[in-house]
Amino acid sequence: MANSFLTETKKEKTLVAGIGLKQDDFSEIKESVAELEDLVYAAGGEVVGTIVQILPSFNPSTLMGSGKVTEIKEMADTTTATLLVVDHQLSGSQMRNLEAELGIRVIDRSQLILDIFASRAQTYEGKLQVELAQMLDQLPRMVGGWHGSLSRQAGGIGTRGPGESALELDRRRINERVKVIRKKLEDVKKNRQQHRAKRKRQNVPSFALIGYTNSGKSTLLNKLTQSQVLAKDQLFATLDPTTRQIMLPDVGLAVLTDTVGFIRKLPTQLIEAFKATLEESAEADILIHVIDLSSPQMERQQEVVQQLMRDLKWDDKPLIHAFNKVDVAPLERQMSVKAFPRVFVSAVEGRGLEKLKHLMAEAAKNLQQTVELYFSKKDEHLIYELGKDGQILKSEASPHGTVCTVALNPTQISRWESYLTR
Ligand code: GTP
Repeated sequence: MANSFLTETKKEKTLVAGIGLKQDDFSEIKESVAELEDLVYAAGGEVVGTIVQILPSFNPSTLMGSGKVTEIKEMADTTTATLLVVDHQLSGSQMRNLEAELGIRVIDRSQLILDIFASRAQTYEGKLQVELAQMLDQLPRMVGGWHGSLSRQAGGIGTRGPGESALELDRRRINERVKVIRKKLEDVKKNRQQHRAKRKRQNVPSFALIGYTNSGKSTLLNKLTQSQVLAKDQLFATLDPTTRQIMLPDVGLAVLTDTVGFIRKLPTQLIEAFKATLEESAEADILIHVIDLSSPQMERQQEVVQQLMRDLKWDDKPLIHAFNKVDVAPLERQMSVKAFPRVFVSAVEGRGLEKLKHLMAEAAKNLQQTVELYFSKKDEHLIYELGKDGQILKSEASPHGTVCTVALNPTQISRWESYLTR
């Protein structure tokens, strides 16, 4: 890690600003700001003041109005804050103008999220992905050759990154670095594809846990597979996909993957950079949406995940809803839940896990279809292989060859495609 800010005991004093337009939904702006405050704590900072401004239109030079800028400056002086996080995308010049007027560092929501990702990334791939996202985030802000008016050498929230800081590089160097990282990520991806291909050959149904950040995916993965994946009460504890084996009733071996937690307004560069990780989930046969039943924002969080699923074109996959944290959720919440198929679980207490495994087994079995395959005399030796792959329900021999009726899942069907009778 380039900077060990998180381990320092002193928290960076931070101001948070929510900016919206008159036509925006006010409660949405407030929720988003509340979440931004959580993100500041997740980044190791301390929120010492919050400002919300609703405008008829944005001010092109500073985003917010000049009166608000003065108010923030006064607040920064009295609280000795050294950082302002704005809950809206800022252009390079807006950031520069705000920094010049306020005399403190200014970052936006995307940069804060990227910073948290930077301090959490553990593996080689995770670090490359974060570095790529930071470079992609920085590029459009560099119009006019501006790199940031206040020194970022001193460190702090918004300055962390696994590689050379994008803030210290020029456009040309960033573009070169982006190419190098993309190439490295491509290599990692190839390697990952080989693993995946092997798994498919072994015909193992695969599941991916998806869900809002902090909903309990890692804890559930641990409990279901008795492994030790990092589970912490902090946003984005998981950055690298973790795949574990699990035994399901009537089905046998399956694999289960944990993914990065979703969040509203997830920066697009992050989705781009984490594509390889998200592809792991895209390859899964079945998705398990883990929902924090105890969160007052439960419905909103569900919607964010559903929207991202649509964006990633995952909405055609079989889906199981796992409502987690029943141990701390109000009982009436369970009554109001409408999603199916669903199960109520407590990953911490181990409640509902058998039912979840049964739902997983059901979904895996539903993936199979009954098909007919024809093997001519010269290919009949393959029937032995077919029997290892799926369950042969019927086999009819004729003088020219054999027709087998067999239950196969989509991956197997594509493997045996050339023997399909229709
Ligand atoms: P990200 O990595 O941010 O995506 O989080 P995650 O979805 O993997 O959540 P994680 O498993 O790290 O759990 C987040 C917090 O919720 C931890 O403090 C867990 O102990 C807690 N938690 C998880 N499951 C339960 C549960 O069933 N009941 C209660 N009370 N807490 C839970």
